[in-house]
Amino acid sequence: MNKPASLSAHAHSAKVIVCRDATAASRTVANMIVAAVNAKPSIVLGLATGGTPTATYANIVEDFRAGKVQFKDVTSFNLDEYIGLSGTHPQSFRYFMQSELFDHIDIDPNNTFVPEGGASDPASHAIQYEAQIAAAGGIDLQLLGIGHNGHIAFNEPGSLPSTRTRVVELTPSTIEKNARFFASVDEVPKTAITMGIGTILEAKQILLLATGKGKAEAVRRSLQEAASEEVPASWLEQHPDVTFVLDEDAASELSL
Ligand code: F6R
Repeated sequence: MNKPASLSAHAHSAKVIVCRDATAASRTVANMIVAAVNAKPSIVLGLATGGTPTATYANIVEDFRAGKVQFKDVTSFNLDEYIGLSGTHPQSFRYFMQSELFDHIDIDPNNTFVPEGGASDPASHAIQYEAQIAAAGGIDLQLLGIGHNGHIAFNEPGSLPSTRTRVVELTPSTIEKNARFFASVDEVPKTAITMGIGTILEAKQILLLATGKGKAEAVRRSLQEAASEEVPASWLEQHPDVTFVLDEDAASELSL
């Protein structure tokens, strides 16, 4: 059973939901997304990639197949993409989104936006991506994961809350963590296009999903330390509608 928790330590307006395990946390987030789409069929979703949201996407596909939700009027914007990988590269985030979610639901492919890793001018593509988000009316519901180093999207430590969609360099620790998806660490791109923290903070609602002991410290520092550029997810405290959905392992360092 999920137990909503409230935080006692650092003043943070985030809601925290602690679930028994990753399966329950993933289902909780899927239910929240499906409910949001049903409440507003033309919703603009912000989506994340990585190991964490795969079960959530599988749950959403299951709900779509069961007739519980439709995506034909939904628009989506992904957080980030590796520079140098085109959308057909199996480790690109576009490829991930197609195979985990978009290919299995009725979303209009023209309404799915992922930064283009193959763009000839990534810096101007990043500016254009911001304009596309604005033209869609902004993001209603943003799904986030969190890096072991506290990053959100590819906003690595040192990122300020004013940052916008831009080209960034990945830290050695992120490159090393993401090497598990590639044949070798040398194949992991060193740069990416990412939504900025300022871009993320403009979403109307934010859901952060974190599972596993490996995320416990980043989650604790985000929620229970004063916001700082050392832990980019800590800037979420500036947002009025953030929910952290955690399994017991990711919540294990919190003083609740
Ligand atoms: C993915 C993203 C990243 C991941 C984070 C956690 O689009 O922006 O910030 O959310 O690196 O990744 P996993 O889920 O693989 O642990």
